[in-house]
Amino acid sequence: KSTARFLVGGNWKCNGDRESIVRLVADLNSGDVPSDVEVVCAPPFVYLDQVSKALMPPYQVAAQNCWVGKGGAFTGEVSAEMLSDCGVGWVILGHSERRALCGEDSQFVGKKVAYALEQGLRVIACIGETLEQRESGEMFNVLEEQMGAIAENVSDWGPVVIAYEPVWAIGTGVVATPDQAQEVHAYLRKWVTEKVGAGVADSLRILYGGSVNDANCVELAGQEDIDGFLVGGASLKGAAFVKICNAQ
Ligand code: G3P
Repeated sequence: KSTARFLVGGNWKCNGDRESIVRLVADLNSGDVPSDVEVVCAPPFVYLDQVSKALMPPYQVAAQNCWVGKGGAFTGEVSAEMLSDCGVGWVILGHSERRALCGEDSQFVGKKVAYALEQGLRVIACIGETLEQRESGEMFNVLEEQMGAIAENVSDWGPVVIAYEPVWAIGTGVVATPDQAQEVHAYLRKWVTEKVGAGVADSLRILYGGSVNDANCVELAGQEDIDGFLVGGASLKGAAFVKICNAQ
């Protein structure tokens, strides 16, 4: 396990409206989150302000993406500076949906990580293989390529969290088994030990994401190298999400 606190992220993706978000925030605020767990909720950009004003500590907020560099003539984008300016402390980068649907490759994700860190944001950087890559024996190569592009852009790992999200488990209801998740997490920690250093590997949080829910979270959280979760669908249900925050 990481020596840092267990961390649970809620990635709301492109879901919700003002009304449903008021209800979700109320449910989250009325839930009990243990003080040794860090929780970060990531609403869509346009609701960040509403959510950051309404969510009570210990909840923090994250953006789901940001631009690769300084703002300017980039229609439709939101810069890391703007997030900092608005008091948003975290950003999720390299989510598989953005890699697959928006053509973000590992080099681009790596640059985003570098720039967001430079602007003082904390980063949840996502990696993960597709089913085809897993079945063809390419999984570890793919993960190393994604991790490598992130690692070469990080000098201080303190504000960085890695989320391992196997693409085949995202939104499918097919959660990785605890053994499958542990195998990859242990591999990633070993990779970090060898390529970056043992100190970083000891404190780095490696989250699991992909069909985590309130029924499977406890067993996953019991795995040696799982230091938290990045939750999609179940993060839209306040009571379920609070249970997941109590999984450890
Ligand atoms: O970022 C979290 C996500 O991709 C997992 O989604 O719905 O399978 O929990 P879900």
